[in-house]
Amino acid sequence: MAHNPLAPEWLSSPADANTLTDGLWPSSARRTDDGAITIGGVSAGDLAAQFGTPLYVIDETDARTRAAQLRAAFDAEFARIGTTVRVYYAAKAFLSTEVARWMVEAGLNIDVCSGGELAVALAAGVAPGRIGFHGNNKSRAEINDATRVGVGTIIIDSPVEIERVAEAAGRHGMVQNVRLRVNSGVHAHTHEFLATSHEDQKFGVVFEDAPALVAAIRAQPSLNFLGLHCHIGSQIFGVDGFAESASRLLSLQADLLAGGPVPELNLGGGFGIAYTSVDDPSPVADLAAALADIVAAECARRGIPVPVIAIEPGRVIIGPAGVTLYEVGTTKPVRIGENTRLYVSVDGGMSDNARPALYGAEYSVRIADRVSEAAPALVRVAGKHCESGDIVVDADYLPGDVAPGDLLMVPATGAYCWSLASNYNYVGRPAVVAVADGEARVIVRGETIDDLLARDAGVPRSAHEVSTSSTGEVSTSSTGEVSTSSTGEAGSTGEAGSTGAAGSTNDMKETTR
Ligand code: LLP
Repeated sequence: MAHNPLAPEWLSSPADANTLTDGLWPSSARRTDDGAITIGGVSAGDLAAQFGTPLYVIDETDARTRAAQLRAAFDAEFARIGTTVRVYYAAKAFLSTEVARWMVEAGLNIDVCSGGELAVALAAGVAPGRIGFHGNNKSRAEINDATRVGVGTIIIDSPVEIERVAEAAGRHGMVQNVRLRVNSGVHAHTHEFLATSHEDQKFGVVFEDAPALVAAIRAQPSLNFLGLHCHIGSQIFGVDGFAESASRLLSLQADLLAGGPVPELNLGGGFGIAYTSVDDPSPVADLAAALADIVAAECARRGIPVPVIAIEPGRVIIGPAGVTLYEVGTTKPVRIGENTRLYVSVDGGMSDNARPALYGAEYSVRIADRVSEAAPALVRVAGKHCESGDIVVDADYLPGDVAPGDLLMVPATGAYCWSLASNYNYVGRPAVVAVADGEARVIVRGETIDDLLARDAGVPRSAHEVSTSSTGEVSTSSTGEVSTSSTGEAGSTGEAGSTGAAGSTNDMKETTR
């Protein structure tokens, strides 16, 4: 078929727009005989009926397996060069207590970058010693809390933090392990990396300043210097950027060894994943092997011991394990000259996936509750928000008979979708459901209209209380004020059952229109 000029160069019309492209989907994703996509043995239709749409779905086995396999690959490769690896899961990609426990059970530590993420990790029962605390502007309260609970490491990101962390640790009568984040001057993004001498960015200390700052850390009796840290970017496909950065950091490491021990080196996260059929990230095992070779060679060249290595991947663990389920509300063929793009609007959008709007991120899509023989049509999946940049999938092909009521599934939404979600247009954030072995369960409930009203100090509480019903329906009081149910109120404190009801969030949305 001729290339539709409205499609990006890389996207060609597939022979079959029902196929689940390799590498994009959670490992349990299948099409069953009736044409439905199942994840973890639960069909898209059942998920939508039970929990409503939009819905984040995480394949629990896949997430756990990715975490365990990554750790095993790094353990094996770094054992080969005579050292060990600490793997931290970068919680910013997706964090709930449940997911934190999966990661710990897979042998990972947890990397947090705010007091909120720290609170969730602690609520999950993660041992504080397994937590690394990041941030370029940690508040004094955050530093105080982190030292008080005894987090394993704090990553110092600017000179002023040396005293702040030392003082907080001293106050709690403990010695805090710290790393120093250094700007290695390498910045990588997907296929390319840039190496500049003075990169202009907010993270890390200036490379040349590191020796003096390490001396200042060593001079603090309440701090224990573990080593250097660098993170060169995210969604990186190749190994060259990591190699360049590791090489620079190890040259610094060699200098620092003259002044005392430097037992560890943290190389950060950033391993990329596939979002479309043409994305081709390096497999984790290849990255592990290549990084181990580089570290071994650079240490040998400088005659220094191989340090304990730490890494902090997020996306590569949780990203491919997650999908988002939507329902199609409207379709609209838009003719541009000789060509047509079919706009397919779903019941979510930039509030549940900000990445296309924020970064121009590309995604893929499939009809999730049926297969179709209809000729593939170029589609753009748009959200329901009042903004033309509200796009979920900029370009993919779906069977041309895609229609209102169809369920759509967007793969690879496990990372940086829920964590970046917003309430734009007062759309509640969807629930997160974990699926495994034919069972689905809510791990984070969706937001109700009550949740959205709960923090608005101007909502008349008396009218609100009088007119609520126990069924979760929105009703209008005699004074004409729109109000909501008391079940939602209970739900907002985290009680079970408030989201589990079939489509409750959607029902409420409908009745408020
Ligand atoms: N370590 C540090 C210090 C980081 O800043 C990050 C990500 C990671 C680890 C984990 O990176 P990952 O392995 O997940 O790529 N919101 C953007 C990504 C921002 C990443 C920020 N830092 C996105 O949606 O693409």
